[in-house]
Amino acid sequence: MSVADKEKWDQKYIDKPRLLTPRAASEVLVRYAFKGEGSRALDLACGAGRNALYLAERHYVVDAVDVAAIALEALKEDALQRGVAESVDAVLQDLDAFTPKPELYDVIVMSNFLDRGLIERCKAGLKKEGLFIVETYMVDETNEKKDSALSNLLQSEELKEIFKDGFLVLEYKEFENEPHEIYRMKKQSIVVKKL
Ligand SMILES: C[S@@+](CC[C@H](N)C(=O)[O-])C[C@H]1O[C@@H](n2cnc3c(N)ncnc32)[C@H](O)[C@@H]1O
Repeated sequence: MSVADKEKWDQKYIDKPRLLTPRAASEVLVRYAFKGEGSRALDLACGAGRNALYLAERHYVVDAVDVAAIALEALKEDALQRGVAESVDAVLQDLDAFTPKPELYDVIVMSNFLDRGLIERCKAGLKKEGLFIVETYMVDETNEKKDSALSNLLQSEELKEIFKDGFLVLEYKEFENEPHEIYRMKKQSIVVKKL
């Protein structure tokens, strides 16, 4: 990621401070990852940490990675308020240069963000029987946001293709995004278990 891209994300959080306020965790994550009991989770491009904080409250030990310092500060503040600061490590890092240690995590989540190469690099970071959960925007002619780069949008059924080898698909969905989001967009989610 270029310095300009990093500055763009920091600026976005300054311009839209409501993105820093506590928000509900991803619905698919809530349904599949609810009992951590000390197991390890990784939240990729965590932003202000709605998913990381949810996981910490469900007793996961969480690494939450993002390149936006402002978002990570909000996450840390919220973690303190919610009494889970000990369980979340907020890591300021460019995910372009991130590869997890092998077989470290029980759950990996990537939501509202897409980096296909990163998904490939993270597959090895998941333990056997661990869950990989991805939920993000996809191509659709009804999408209200028209200027998204095509490379940032999934094609129909693409997540199934990405996880076709070495994973069991537990759930796959294409759906309208949540009402609280700024633009109406089509999304795609998948939950897979590593074989
Ligand atoms: C739309 S937000 C999603 C936040 C969170 N996952 C959620 O679902 O609410 C996208 C996040 O990706 C982060 N991001 C974008 N490119 C990144 C990169 N190369 N490395 C780390 N974080 C990145 C941004 O800083 C931003 O916080």
